[in-house]
Amino acid sequence: MSIAICPGSFDPITLGHLNIIRRSAQIFDRVIVCIMHNAMKPNPMFTVEEKVEMVRKATERYPNVTVDWSDGLLAEYARQYPGAVIVKGLRAASDFEYEFQMNLINKKINPDLETMFLTASGKYTFLSSSVVREMAVYGADLTGLVPHELIGQIEEKAKQWRMK
Ligand code: PNS
Repeated sequence: MSIAICPGSFDPITLGHLNIIRRSAQIFDRVIVCIMHNAMKPNPMFTVEEKVEMVRKATERYPNVTVDWSDGLLAEYARQYPGAVIVKGLRAASDFEYEFQMNLINKKINPDLETMFLTASGKYTFLSSSVVREMAVYGADLTGLVPHELIGQIEEKAKQWRMK
């Protein structure tokens, strides 16, 4: 059985992430979306529990997608699924530089681990979780940026964030 691991900080999940997850689910027998910490993004808007719930809600229509989380290293997490492949989306050349470096670090920790990249759909190349957070904090319309069933929750959180 082919397994893809789609890791990310998902703070929050965007339609760009969902596009990569959906396409991975068409290619692989099983997709595990793994919510992880990104040391370069130390101050997340959502807790891990909230992210798990949001990603579950956004992916529940895909029967071969499951959601997990880990506060460890991705390359160590992947060891429990021998033969699994990391799948990441690439929006631009700048993403490639970062992801290429991550891929080399992951390979150093776990030489058997392969990473594959899917190019982002053109309509989502501008989209990132940080753009969504910023727009939400300013009360902008999030339609077309995040799964519609999550808009209320993101707006509510952004309201609390604004009052901090
Ligand atoms: O959505 P992001 O923020 O681009 O995802 C990056 C993520 C979470 C996949 C990456 O930071 C990661 O793999 N974090 C887990 C810790 C780890 O393995 N770091 C890389 C080696 S130091």
